[in-house]
Amino acid sequence: MAIFGKKKESFKGRGLALEEGVIIPTHIGIIMDGNGRWAKKRGLPRKVGHREGAKVFRTITRYCSEVGVKYLTVYAFSTENWKRPEDEVGALMGLFKSYLKEALEDFKDDDIVVRFIGEKSGFSQELQELMDENVEIAKDRKGMVLNIAMNYGSRDEIVRAVRKIGDEVKSGALSPEDIDEKVVSDRLYTAGQPDPDLIIRPSGEYRISNFMLWQAAYTEFVIMDKLWPDFKKSDLDEAIRIYSQRNRRYGGV
Ligand code: FPP
Repeated sequence: MAIFGKKKESFKGRGLALEEGVIIPTHIGIIMDGNGRWAKKRGLPRKVGHREGAKVFRTITRYCSEVGVKYLTVYAFSTENWKRPEDEVGALMGLFKSYLKEALEDFKDDDIVVRFIGEKSGFSQELQELMDENVEIAKDRKGMVLNIAMNYGSRDEIVRAVRKIGDEVKSGALSPEDIDEKVVSDRLYTAGQPDPDLIIRPSGEYRISNFMLWQAAYTEFVIMDKLWPDFKKSDLDEAIRIYSQRNRRYGGV
């Protein structure tokens, strides 16, 4: 957690709108929802909504890094999204390819570390190679960690962790009485990262949609009545301000 404005030199002149004293969440998760509805409202194919959503993803990612967020996790494609019509899935795969080829290169100016969470093997060979290349290019960077959740489902993530633990118990590397919360956390895709402090869901839906179920035990939620392609930097500011005023008790008083 950082207090915005404490290190004046780090934000001076960058034109950021947050007031001094606002608490910046260390880890933000975003469920980038509403692309389809945004397109439908305009009589456009759903894939156009995803294209606009991808532009917003780029802008908001860089902005998170500028305001001092340390970890950002974006939900780009769930394990359930394969059920969508073939042309929509195809359009999303095309977007991922072009973004991994071009836009992620951009993140080098912001020193952003790129990671993927989810089951990579579900994607084409070409996409998997692009994902690996992006991770490799960014591995020595020191800035914000960006987790792109692709073919991600939190139940699937937990099942995989349980299987790993089972294997370790079977091989004698782990005894059942040593299994605690850390053992589970360390076998999730987000191993070693702090849990999200804030999850933002645009588009007005009050659902978690299989996103970071374990990690979100004490996360603050901000639901915003705006579709993702319309999401602006000022909306992120607003979500951070709301978060900053919450009283987090972690089950205490
Ligand atoms: C949910 O909106 C959005 C998705 C399933 C795709 C999100 C993907 C992007 C924004 C592209 C990101 C690109 C990269 C490279 C990470 P929806 O289609 O469910 O919208 P609806 O609820 O209005 O139908």
